[in-house]
Amino acid sequence: MKIIVTDTPDQAFQRAADMIAEEIRGPQASILGLATGRTMESIYRILVQQHDAGTLDFSGTTSFNLDEYVGLPPTDPNSYSHYMQEHLFSHVNMPAGQGHVPDGSAEDLDAECARYEAAIRAAGGLGLQLLGIGETGHIGFNEPPSAFDSRTRVVHLDDVTRRQNSGMFGDDPERVPERALTMGVGTILEARHLLLVAVGDNKAAIVDEALNGPISEAVSATAIRLHDDVTVILDAAAARIWRQNGHLPNSPENL
Ligand code: GLP
Repeated sequence: MKIIVTDTPDQAFQRAADMIAEEIRGPQASILGLATGRTMESIYRILVQQHDAGTLDFSGTTSFNLDEYVGLPPTDPNSYSHYMQEHLFSHVNMPAGQGHVPDGSAEDLDAECARYEAAIRAAGGLGLQLLGIGETGHIGFNEPPSAFDSRTRVVHLDDVTRRQNSGMFGDDPERVPERALTMGVGTILEARHLLLVAVGDNKAAIVDEALNGPISEAVSATAIRLHDDVTVILDAAAARIWRQNGHLPNSPENL
């Protein structure tokens, strides 16, 4: 695992955007796994800037998002589908229909999850999977406990997560949907590369647990340690406890 620690959040966002851009420019058509949340907004902003500057072409890119709230149609301003339109899809030249987000308003949610898994497989599997981390240690919406071989499915959201994500819902955790669709931990682990990005002091404890605690289905993010091609990008605040516990970034640029 390559662990990069930057001084500022902006440097972390830039490093992450550079890795994603490299994947997009790579020789193979890129199948990106994308994520949502505040952390990703700044990363998408940089990618859009590169696109606007004419240095990044999304025409050969296909993407699959990690998750979506149950009950919100894609037009709902709080849906992740809407988030992706607002922060990325509507600003870049990715052909319509190539940016996939699970449909949380589907009538048959289990069928939608199976369809999503099949669509990822049919596209050739995930290349680079971008990940944030929730305060419960979730990746995607894989709340504890989530089996490491879990697939795309319906999950109940933890109260901690509903509180953490309430900003988009008028700061009212009760308005955050109780359920979501999420790629499973097993689905995520099949991506060819994983890129986890975390910034800010509120992530410091869970980052330390993810990188250093026992590998356990009680903390989904510990599963990334089972993958052999992982980059973790942290700012100094998110890395604080992990460093206090005696760990050092192992990427050459940090040594
Ligand atoms: C949501 C998403 C996660 C993401 C998390 C982090 O819960 N489902 O995939 O990792 O938010 O959010 P933030 O970047 O806002 O801290």
